[in-house]
Amino acid sequence: MSEKKLQIGVVGLHRGKASIEIAQKFASKVNIAAICDCNAQTADTCAEKVGVNTVYYDYEEMLKDPSLDAVYIATPIPSHALHTIQAFEAGKHVLSEVTCITDMRDAEDMLKAQEKSGKVYMLAENYCYLKAWDMVMKMVKAGLFGEVYYAEGDYLMNFHQRAGFPFIGNWRQNVYHMHRGHVYITHSLGPLMQAFDYEPLTRVSCMGCGSYPHPWGLRADNTCNLLLHTESKKLIRLRQDFLSPRPDNYLFYAIQGTKGVYEGGRSYPGAYHEGDRREKQEATHKVSIEGICGSNEWIDLFALKEFLPDMSEGWLPDEEIRRYGVYNEGVGVMFNDFAAVVAGTKENELTLKRCLNWTAAGLRSEESADKDGEPVSIPVY
Ligand SMILES: NC(=O)c1ccc[n+]([C@@H]2O[C@H](COP(=O)([O-])OP(=O)(O)OC[C@H]3O[C@@H](n4cnc5c(N)ncnc54)[C@H](O)[C@@H]3O)[C@@H](O)[C@H]2O)c1
Repeated sequence: MSEKKLQIGVVGLHRGKASIEIAQKFASKVNIAAICDCNAQTADTCAEKVGVNTVYYDYEEMLKDPSLDAVYIATPIPSHALHTIQAFEAGKHVLSEVTCITDMRDAEDMLKAQEKSGKVYMLAENYCYLKAWDMVMKMVKAGLFGEVYYAEGDYLMNFHQRAGFPFIGNWRQNVYHMHRGHVYITHSLGPLMQAFDYEPLTRVSCMGCGSYPHPWGLRADNTCNLLLHTESKKLIRLRQDFLSPRPDNYLFYAIQGTKGVYEGGRSYPGAYHEGDRREKQEATHKVSIEGICGSNEWIDLFALKEFLPDMSEGWLPDEEIRRYGVYNEGVGVMFNDFAAVVAGTKENELTLKRCLNWTAAGLRSEESADKDGEPVSIPVY
């Protein structure tokens, strides 16, 4: 007998549209049953493109739809807390785009709403679903790196190509450019936290370089660096940059353990423009591991074929990666995992408590930057 698919309603049809297309093609455990956008033209155009007939223009109306088990929230970040609470109140499971919150005061209300509803929350952190990282994590679990004690991540995005730069408009202007620190932190942190077996973060220190050229009137530093500690003092370094003239590099990760090291590419190609997309990403990922190669030698991660991802899980094949970008290569797997978590057949790795801790690290990094790098505590939920 075939398994019943999880019925999902999607709200926010810009980011939402790409995710719908990938879920429809590669996530066998879900069905996109309804879509919603408050911009009627966006909703209607999307409905036509993705072939979903149940269209809402009001999120609260969609939440009343009894045929929906869950919602995928892809509205702007400042709406995530409200949209999550409303979904729980309507008895729906939540798969939410990143990040969880923009205001620390919303965390407790979200947790209370979830507890009352008993429903699943999973952060749609697609950067935890990258093929190279999937391999690295299998190797971490197999003990190849020994004990992992240090990790790095960079989120460097070239906005110079966008109309009106540095005034990019809409909610992104406020969230990205009118705050110091690293408020869009989960893409970098999520994968690294997996390597530390989700040990909570306790402290963050952030220093920025200031804003160039003056006077842009933006609060964000052109670039900033964060140092974070986990509970047992594992160390993480993250760099964030939305303002410098440089090619994108928002998929850089590295880990260091007692037996080996992994480093991704520092000039990972951008996935924003079609022309930037490379045909192969393999060559940029390298490892040096005791017993597998010489102590001063790197080898190509993808040469370790026994750790290659299982394509039947929902990974995008190469031609679809060129279309949707490397950062979307595991969105199908992510939707399948969400369905499995709701069905109770898989443990939820991207829980509300964990992801609030990561989001809070980014929000608290602003306070540290204002104190010239003084470490500040991060709430553990
Ligand atoms: N995971 C990723 O790789 C990735 C990539 C891009 C964006 N995102 C995330 O996706 C979210 C949306 O980003 P975006 O670039 O699509 O933003 P956007 O502003 O381009 O689009 C947001 C859409 O949501 C709609 N919307 C806003 N409020 C609504 C409401 N109350 N009810 C119904 N519709 C509403 C808007 O009309 C618009 O179509 C953000 O959280 C962002 O961080 C994630």
